[in-house]
Amino acid sequence: MDYVLLRTQVGALLDGETDFIANAANFSAFVFHELPDLNWAGFYFPAPTGELVLGPFNGRPACTRLPSGRGVCGAAFVRGETVVVDDVHAFEDHIACDTASVSEIVVPLRAASGIFGVFDIDSPRAARFTPSDRDGIESLVDAFVSSCGNQATAS
Ligand code: SME
Repeated sequence: MDYVLLRTQVGALLDGETDFIANAANFSAFVFHELPDLNWAGFYFPAPTGELVLGPFNGRPACTRLPSGRGVCGAAFVRGETVVVDDVHAFEDHIACDTASVSEIVVPLRAASGIFGVFDIDSPRAARFTPSDRDGIESLVDAFVSSCGNQATAS
């Protein structure tokens, strides 16, 4: 994958728009359609209860609320670092929203004030996300976070 090109394209897609939901929706659609072998791509954002609540996404309907600190998403959110799972069946705390999902990457959204959400991508293929995909996807998520401006604040 040419992530440098994708980074340029997604920057252009989000450029000039500051609406958080519009950019999150377009970012999800861009990733879902540009990266091969995915079955889901989207956001979760923390609620005051500590749960992660479903945000804009592309793919089949997904779990609306993930309990605080649980699942791959909760692990990435609590640790503040990207989590890659090559086989979700071997990740004890995985939360299955779609049985088609086999591998997964979750990237935290980092603002100056802290982590304000996660971006989650699922694949039906085992070990879909290589170290170079991880670096590339993190660079795409950086472009999204930059587009958020002062709307990116941790709760
Ligand atoms: N599998 C995730 C839950 C979200 S869905 O994949 C869309 C997890 O374990 O956190």
